Amino acid sequence: MNATPLKTVIIVPTYNERDNIAALVQALQEEFKCIRHDMHILVVDDNSPDRTADVVQGLQASHPNLHLLNGQKQGLGVAYIRGMRHAMEELSADIVFEMDADFSHKPEDVPRLLAAIDAGADFVIGSRYVRGGTIPDEWGLYRRLNSRFGNIVARYLAGIYSVRDCTAGFRAIRTSILRRIDFDKLRVQGYAFQVALLHAAKTCKAKIVEIPVNFIDRTHGESKLGIRDIIEFILNAWWIRFDSSKTFLKFIIVGASGVVVNLGVFTILLAQGFNKYGASPIAIELSIVTNFFLNNGWTFRWRKTKDRMRTRGIKFNAVSLLSLGVSYSTFVGLSMLLPDYPPQLHQFAGIIPATLVNYFLNSYWTFKHTEDAH
Ligand code: GDD
Ligand code: MN
Repeated sequence: MNATPLKTVIIVPTYNERDNIAALVQALQEEFKCIRHDMHILVVDDNSPDRTADVVQGLQASHPNLHLLNGQKQGLGVAYIRGMRHAMEELSADIVFEMDADFSHKPEDVPRLLAAIDAGADFVIGSRYVRGGTIPDEWGLYRRLNSRFGNIVARYLAGIYSVRDCTAGFRAIRTSILRRIDFDKLRVQGYAFQVALLHAAKTCKAKIVEIPVNFIDRTHGESKLGIRDIIEFILNAWWIRFDSSKTFLKFIIVGASGVVVNLGVFTILLAQGFNKYGASPIAIELSIVTNFFLNNGWTFRWRKTKDRMRTRGIKFNAVSLLSLGVSYSTFVGLSMLLPDYPPQLHQFAGIIPATLVNYFLNSYWTFKHTEDAH
């Protein structure tokens, strides 16, 4: 038996949730009755115009484990960071939850997430995208695609490949992990916080577990997710990719060496009296071959791939030809759209999408690793 029970704080950010918050507090208190931890609720309100905070204050008299933190609206991530700091520094929490106020996350699921923590996990995700987890039937195509797209960006661009639901806002996290994370370095304000925090936890080697949950559509009020959040979300995923990826850098270096090989071979062949139309594809193919061997032996050396070397070589070649197509289409497209600019600019612009296509296909197909991407 534990002498002192662990302290768990459910952090609920609110912005105009006056129609939800009282019922949520009530439902959570019911759940707490069968949990052995010392359970608390921390509402982080951003001066909601509908006066959500007044409702919470009114409840505090009869709920001594209900806490309220007020602030100015700067986004979901800023609210969570404020809440997590408060839970650690003022409330000495051992575990915190992230939970929405709108009943999208079922209070009945709280004990299940907590049980996973008790079983040894550091970071438990109430996941919609593992077996048994669901999204609402009522969700239209836009919301479905938005959520799918968000997870694809997080998994493949930011590289959090092993987690299915990277954007989930229902989580239980040990503060021993949070204390190792520098919130100032997350550089996010809005919903991108979910991915930024998950990535930081992974970097700290947190034991991450996904528990299936049914995500319920809200009945009162509306979603606060805006276009700013989406833009920040994508930029943040790029930032994580560049910040954490030595692999991508190596890939770029190899690509640059390929340019040298390409032009070098081309020059030598011309000097040998080759026809330029014959020399060009030979030079291109040779640079593809040297790129392949360098990527195979250096950039992706650590990857465990299922294919044989020959298959990888063929795939690499196919991807190279495809990115040639991408580069050329960009060149043609820009030449037609912006005919007044120098053709060198169009040619150069083609390198960017071609490199990205090249990298992602090689990273997730040719040299596909069974675990996470780096
Ligand atoms: N304090 C504060 N400040 N609270 C906020 C803010 C803010 O700027 N923005 C949103 N909230 C609160 C809402 O009041 C709600 O309690 C919770 O955060 C979630 O906001 P919703 O607007 O209901 O989010 P959603 O339903 O679109 O998104 C949910 O699913 C996403 C993944 O698909 C959330 O769980 C997200 O965290 C999650 O990423
Ligand atoms: Mn919601």
